[in-house]
Amino acid sequence: MKEAVKVLGIFGSPRRGGNTEILLEEALRGAEKEGASIDRLDLSDFVITPCKECHGCDDTGKCIILDDMEKIYPKLLEADVVILASPIFFYGVTAWAKALIDRSQALWAKKYLLKDPSLGKEGKRRRGFFISVGATKGQKVFEGSILTVKYFFDVFNADYAGELLFRGVEAKGDILKHPEALQQAFEAGRRLVQNP
Ligand SMILES: Cc1cc2nc3c(=O)[nH]c(=O)nc-3n(C[C@H](O)[C@H](O)[C@H](O)COP(=O)(O)O)c2cc1C
Repeated sequence: MKEAVKVLGIFGSPRRGGNTEILLEEALRGAEKEGASIDRLDLSDFVITPCKECHGCDDTGKCIILDDMEKIYPKLLEADVVILASPIFFYGVTAWAKALIDRSQALWAKKYLLKDPSLGKEGKRRRGFFISVGATKGQKVFEGSILTVKYFFDVFNADYAGELLFRGVEAKGDILKHPEALQQAFEAGRRLVQNP
């Protein structure tokens, strides 16, 4: 039997039932509809210490900080598709998401310093998708985060497969005022599994 595509949803907002969670859930529902196996990480439930820039990972590809990231590294590597969902906080992703991203420096070291073949050209390719919302309508509101997320995806060989971004979304549930948003998230989830 063909193995199910593994989709990892990373929920980077601390606000439950908020706009990001609604969109992420729809995307995961779409992926599940296509037969994917789903795993979701709610970052605000995890203890993720920010990177200390000790370079402890340079020689091993492993972080020396022992916290919940130990559970998250294998999940990133096992996934076929990673969906990172974070609202915009001060023109970036949330601190919850950024802590995880910075700690992926250990994977960066594994890939670029140690040239581990599993993260090289011959290694498994993954797909990454970014979901975000912001309260303002500024043209540049997502620019910084998109770059951050692209470089994050690169460390575990995830091609940037697309994004779903909504401006002018502030209060909890505001996203429901965009009726097409939920459908778009559902379809994005489906597509990510159809073309893993
Ligand atoms: C600390 C903080 C910083 C924020 N910074 C921005 C910002 O720079 N630009 C913006 O458009 N919205 C900003 N927002 C608004 C959130 O992105 C917006 O309310 C979003 O809908 C929250 O998503 P959630 O319901 O999934 O948590 C900020 C909100 C908070 C709490």
